[in-house]
Amino acid sequence: MKDVVDVEDVDLGHPEDSLDEAARRLWRKAIAFGTWDPSKIDLSQDKLDYERLDPPMRAYLESFCGAFYHAEENVARLFCPWIMAMSSTWQQAYLSTQLVEEFKHADFFSRYFEEVFGASAPKRRFANPVHDSLYERSRQLLASLETSEEERATVIVEAFTHYQGIIEGVQANAGYHIFVHVFGKHGLFPGLSQGFRNIQRDEGRHVGFGMRVLRHYAERDAALGARIREVYEAYLPLIRSRYGQPIEVDGAYYDPPEEERGIERLMEMYERRMRDIFGSQPEVTVL
Ligand SMILES: [Fe+2]
Ligand SMILES: [Fe+2]
Repeated sequence: MKDVVDVEDVDLGHPEDSLDEAARRLWRKAIAFGTWDPSKIDLSQDKLDYERLDPPMRAYLESFCGAFYHAEENVARLFCPWIMAMSSTWQQAYLSTQLVEEFKHADFFSRYFEEVFGASAPKRRFANPVHDSLYERSRQLLASLETSEEERATVIVEAFTHYQGIIEGVQANAGYHIFVHVFGKHGLFPGLSQGFRNIQRDEGRHVGFGMRVLRHYAERDAALGARIREVYEAYLPLIRSRYGQPIEVDGAYYDPPEEERGIERLMEMYERRMRDIFGSQPEVTVL
């Protein structure tokens, strides 16, 4: 049970390491341990559990997984500029493992929809507005390759705050906790539990490196630190709107399960990420 409930595993590394040393260590870790195969997870019990759920909970699970599937596929297809924007080989090498892992996560959900829900694509998913501007973010990173390294720093900070800092570090992490408390800890959906555990281990590296990048820039330049806080604050209302959405089944509307406690879990993650980036530093104020 402990490994079902324990989903917090962000790899922040050693604080004295440089960003390049952190990237090289995570690269090594990813090629050694990030080797799970989505096609090898047994989903037979999940199919039975799904058939036994009542229609509102089935719709809730499909919407929940639909949002994850969309998020994983969306970022996998947009992620290349995050790799290209970094100036060192080790940082690019590490981020190339994240690219493969995002496709692997999309592969897992694709298989889950086909084999458990009997659908080739989600029929429903929770609205996830914070992902909608990711296309624009990816294009800004690409354009920044033509600018000086100094100008690019702001674009890098905004992109890492948006994706690694908010979507992965706050929203997705809150999602793993919700799954565990609504389904996993009751022993339901063992295949999905296994998939989420493997994904969460990969995400521990993704968020860990993202936090290191943001801390690196925040320590280097107070204006960049202030920009990180601004982007977090701008997206907070959008990630909050993801929770408490009613579930529609045949024209009737149902509340999400009580155990979701989405906003509470989300804000816990938000505070944790602020501590990861800014640690015990005083508040960054730019006059
Ligand atoms: Fe992912
Ligand atoms: Fe990720």
